[in-house]
Amino acid sequence: MQGPPDAQPEFEEFDAYTSPSDGRLVPFTNVYACNWLQVSENLIDHYHAATLHNNMTVASVDSEVAEGVSLGQCFRTMPVIQWEKTRDGNSMMFSAGRRIADDKVWIRITEMTFPNFVQTASVVPTAAELRHTTVGLTRWHVPVDDHNMIIFGWRHFNDEIDPKHTGDENECGIDKVDFLIGQTSHRTYLEGQLAPGDYEAITSIGKIAPHALEHPGRSDIGVYMCRNLLRAAIRGETPPDSTRVKARAAGDTLPMYSADSVLNIPRATDRDDDDLLRDLSNEVVAIMKECDSVASADRKQYASRRLDDLDGGMVG
Ligand SMILES: [Fe+2]
Repeated sequence: MQGPPDAQPEFEEFDAYTSPSDGRLVPFTNVYACNWLQVSENLIDHYHAATLHNNMTVASVDSEVAEGVSLGQCFRTMPVIQWEKTRDGNSMMFSAGRRIADDKVWIRITEMTFPNFVQTASVVPTAAELRHTTVGLTRWHVPVDDHNMIIFGWRHFNDEIDPKHTGDENECGIDKVDFLIGQTSHRTYLEGQLAPGDYEAITSIGKIAPHALEHPGRSDIGVYMCRNLLRAAIRGETPPDSTRVKARAAGDTLPMYSADSVLNIPRATDRDDDDLLRDLSNEVVAIMKECDSVASADRKQYASRRLDDLDGGMVG
């Protein structure tokens, strides 16, 4: 029980629960022997996708295990990341821009809502191949006590986000999920040392990570923003989420900004490519926010049309 029953918030319905209409939400859990907050902070720290999940193994590990702890090739480029608060401070997001070809960029957005809700975009390699796809994973990070937590989640299976059927519904269940080795405590200590995954990275910093020992750099801006916004929400300093008020008034499901978008944008000859990626990320974020004012049923089509405006239309 996380609080008094009469204070139980309304269960929010997001677009991704019912769109596409033939999608399947497959439940899973992951049990972590540490404080819930550091699990959330792992997710908002997207740089780790390009380091931890990029063959961070010792030489003796066989290629199958090395691949198993790594995300697809597309995630291995160090992204240009920006963070911002969303929904009046009730949520925050990162946008991660990567150039995946001389004429193509990939913008990935993940949004989390305080205190403990997150939906990520695709977790399979088509994340960086398809024009525009949305949620692949829904999670609640639920404390058990100060030293233990459980992720309760849904993996989203549908032909829009995973047309090559890379995911495996049968691998989702109690303390198991179908992507990335290293999400659970089930491996031996040695296996975790030789080929670490999220579980080892998150729990090895302690059951309650001592923040006083941190040496934050620019890459930690998102983690610190997460803490500040969470602190403000707990103190009651955060105003109501106006996007929820609007969606409820319209009797509509809620959008999330989490999405992968691929754009046909060549390198510019007269400017730094990272600056270009930042601008494009901001433009895609703006498009996703515009969707707040669009009826749920029309949001995907609207976003696709606005992406066409941005790059002249996806070809190939
Ligand atoms: Fe991870």
